[in-house]
Amino acid sequence: MAKIVVVGSLNMDLVATSPRIPVVGETIIGDTYFTEPGGKGANQAYAAAKLGGDVAMLGHIGDDEFGREMRENLLKVGCDASGIRTEPGASGVALIFVAATGQNSIIVVPGANTKFTPAHVAADSHHLKGSKVVLLQLENPTETVLAAAHAARNAGALVILDPAPAPAIPLPAELIRTVDVMTPNETEAAILAGLPPGRLQPDQAAQLGKELQKRGAKTVVVKLGDQGCVLLSDGEPVLLPAPKVNAVDTTAAGDTFNAGFAVALSEGRSLADACRFANHAAALSVTRLGTQIAVPSRFEVDHFAKENSIAAVALAH
Ligand code: ATP
Ligand code: RIB
Repeated sequence: MAKIVVVGSLNMDLVATSPRIPVVGETIIGDTYFTEPGGKGANQAYAAAKLGGDVAMLGHIGDDEFGREMRENLLKVGCDASGIRTEPGASGVALIFVAATGQNSIIVVPGANTKFTPAHVAADSHHLKGSKVVLLQLENPTETVLAAAHAARNAGALVILDPAPAPAIPLPAELIRTVDVMTPNETEAAILAGLPPGRLQPDQAAQLGKELQKRGAKTVVVKLGDQGCVLLSDGEPVLLPAPKVNAVDTTAAGDTFNAGFAVALSEGRSLADACRFANHAAALSVTRLGTQIAVPSRFEVDHFAKENSIAAVALAH
């Protein structure tokens, strides 16, 4: 049985790079175009396996070429893909614009990801037995994510929820209470708190994390892009700053972060050390164009970590 199980989405990413993101009604000329396996669930599974984790994935793909390619890509890094079901119809796709600044805009058309139901979770729950860490995101129906959270808890795993993409309607309180760790980025942290999205300072992120804890979240890690992440657990919140890198494409930085976090926890490291490992892995991923193709190897992350140590910074409370 795999130590890390990802229950989530698979999308084929259709990526265009251009000097900037077009505004509404505008047509601009781009620079490059490529397709690549993506989807928040598959990115986390792929990255966790490439970072040295023992990983299995549960998810749904369509009976098309995209689906076959996405499954193959996971197999290449040793991820157990036997829990990925094939449905009649189209696989999920994501249309991604990447600007020269490294920032992106994404539209996901979920296709087969919507066909993943709580009944499938129940039928496939044997995949969760013996797992240490289960990774969830929000690109499948919310009731399926909730069923997976309960099944993972029942299996005795640590449950990590990446509340991404930001939910259009409030997350069920039961989901927030059921998972062990929530890992919003700054946009998601603001939206979960009912605030307009925008850049957050670390102390503001800590405040929003505390609000989530008041609503039943146990541990919260707020991902803050080039600022690193804020960890809120039993003690006072701390900032784990990101190493300085030249960002080329931040797509799936959050997925690589969650994968690194899960791998480190599955190896018995502390929450703060897991945040450090996650910061190192994600920082390296943003220096490369693409999603799964941008994920660094374990060797690269360990080497980078030796040269870029991260000291925790206590935050005011
Ligand atoms: P995405 O949705 O594109 O997958 P995200 O918005 O969920 O990403 P971010 O907060 O942008 O997540 O980044 C996740 C993590 O990646 C950060 O916490 C940090 O560790 C790392 N990271 C992101 N951008 C940078 C950067 N410019 N320099 C260094 N590290 C970065
Ligand atoms: O987090 C990045 C991912 O979001 C992309 O791979 C895309 O498929 C969307 O799901």
